[in-house]
Amino acid sequence: MNWLRKISQGKPFPLPFDVPDRQDHAGPIIFRGKTRIDDTMTQDTADEEQRRNEEMSYLGVGSYGIVADLGNGMVLKYIASPNEAETARRVMQTKPPCVVKIHEVRELQDDLWGIVMDKVRLLNSGESYQASAYKWYWISITEGMSLEEFVDRSSYVPEKFTHEFYDKYAKMLICLRENKIPLDDVHGDNCGYDNEGNLVVFDIGDVS
Ligand SMILES: Nc1ncnc2c1ncn2[C@@H]1O[C@H](COP(=O)(O)OP(=O)(O)O)[C@@H](O)[C@H]1O
Ligand SMILES: [Mg+2]
Repeated sequence: MNWLRKISQGKPFPLPFDVPDRQDHAGPIIFRGKTRIDDTMTQDTADEEQRRNEEMSYLGVGSYGIVADLGNGMVLKYIASPNEAETARRVMQTKPPCVVKIHEVRELQDDLWGIVMDKVRLLNSGESYQASAYKWYWISITEGMSLEEFVDRSSYVPEKFTHEFYDKYAKMLICLRENKIPLDDVHGDNCGYDNEGNLVVFDIGDVS
């Protein structure tokens, strides 16, 4: 086999389950998390993970990680980010009410961690849209801006926003800031409701 053909052949995915590409109107999107974790995880780790979590199945993928459903109300997120692992360890100790409950942070091999956390109920599309519109409101709060002013001035806030959702979201942002959780990747697709109905963030990675 010539060298060009050899280097252009992908290695078989060692992950213990198949990770489909997500679709949008333009076709399949391959999230970077898929290749990132797949390139990092060794076959030994994949075999060990499969033995340890027999019931797991694919749940989701993002730009950084891959998430499996453990089938017991919990999920397992594979990450290759030391920052996210460190934040997860801290959250496991301090348990802020604005972050999903984290049960375990395990170093699986060099540069690869598994985080076990509760499964949340994702936001519906209206809530997710509002959450993204409010993403920057925490900056305005520190400048003393009222919600009414923010809504007046911001071109992103949808006309039909609900105070009920906004109140929960603003409280969550304030709690995250107080607990020094990176805020740069907090948006509608990274939060949901825990078992008690609290709005929580489940993706605590930064965007580095
Ligand atoms: N705790 C959880 N409960 C329910 N779904 C989750 C949970 N964690 C992740 N997911 C699903 O997996 C997807 C990718 O997870 P995420 O943590 O956002 O990865 P990334 O850091 O790559 O963005 C999410 O968009 C969501 O659909
Ligand atoms: Mg995410």
